[in-house]
Amino acid sequence: MPEENQVIPLALTQIHHRSDEAFSSTKPKNLHQKRSSKIFFYILTAIVLQSVGLLIFALIALRFESPQVKITSVSTKNLRYSTSPWPSLNMTLIAQITVDNKNFGRFKLKKNSSKASVLYGNITIGDTLINGWSVRARKRESVKITVQVRANGGLSENMNISSEVKSGLVKMIRSYAELRGEVHAFKIIKKHKTAIMNCTMSLNLTSQAIHNLLCK
Ligand SMILES: *[C@@H]1O[C@H](CO)[C@@H](O)[C@H](O)[C@H]1NC(C)=O
Ligand SMILES: *[C@@H]1O[C@H](CO)[C@@H](O)[C@H](O)[C@H]1NC(C)=O
Ligand SMILES: *[C@@H]1O[C@H](CO)[C@@H](O)[C@H](O)[C@H]1NC(C)=O
Ligand SMILES: *[C@@H]1O[C@H](CO)[C@@H](O)[C@H](O)[C@H]1NC(C)=O
Ligand SMILES: *[C@@H]1O[C@H](CO)[C@@H](O)[C@H](O)[C@H]1NC(C)=O
Ligand SMILES: *[C@@H]1O[C@H](CO)[C@@H](O)[C@H](O)[C@H]1NC(C)=O
Repeated sequence: MPEENQVIPLALTQIHHRSDEAFSSTKPKNLHQKRSSKIFFYILTAIVLQSVGLLIFALIALRFESPQVKITSVSTKNLRYSTSPWPSLNMTLIAQITVDNKNFGRFKLKKNSSKASVLYGNITIGDTLINGWSVRARKRESVKITVQVRANGGLSENMNISSEVKSGLVKMIRSYAELRGEVHAFKIIKKHKTAIMNCTMSLNLTSQAIHNLLCK
């Protein structure tokens, strides 16, 4: 009897315990599911937000544009000119060129492929290579170039030169350059871009100064 009496409560407690366990084990399962779906929602939101952020960043940072280039100042040296027996104009032009690079990457000039020319009307009277230069990301940088102008004979093709030299103001001088380069972004992306310089100016033969410098 005492033996039996002992068995029953034991069995009861065992059952009790088991049913307790079974009852309590359903609760954490539900909580766990709720928590994991919340985590999934947060991860999804984070991924979506990150994608939108990356897209906006990419739209801004990967919008490559040609840098702007212009002559900011120009002076002359060793100016010599004559009108007879034919029109002739010799000088050294020293120009300060400024490149404004708005890209999120360095603009690097390609070797031997960028030339700055000086023209009278449509006749080239001097040129020089622009080499070994690059402009940092989102910077405006400046370089000095020197062009030897030698205009003999060829100038007489243009009927205006003689009268312009006689007037003391040579108006039809242009400087044109195509700066061929690459924008390097994030070390892996390279994009070809050409910056075009197209400026007009006048040369005052008396003062040997450049007037009316205008860049497009
Ligand atoms: C310009 O230079 C050329 C070649 O160096 C020379 O033949 C010419 O006489 C020069 N003209 C003037 C006006 O000095
Ligand atoms: C650039 O030109 C110079 C001289 O004209 C030459 O020595 C050099 O090999 C050229 N470089 C390239 C990459 O063409
Ligand atoms: C330069 O212009 C003149 C007249 O404006 C024209 O006769 C000549 O062919 C042109 N030369 C070049 C190289 O374009
Ligand atoms: C000469 O100058 C005139 C007026 O400035 C211009 O209309 C004409 O096109 C010029 N001629 C040449 C050959 O450049
Ligand atoms: C350079 O600018 C002049 C006017 O200032 C224009 O007539 C000419 O077509 C331009 N040249 C180029 C190659 O854009
Ligand atoms: C050229 O320079 C001289 C001397 O500085 C000046 O007297 C003259 O007015 C200038 N000419 C023009 C067209 O600006």
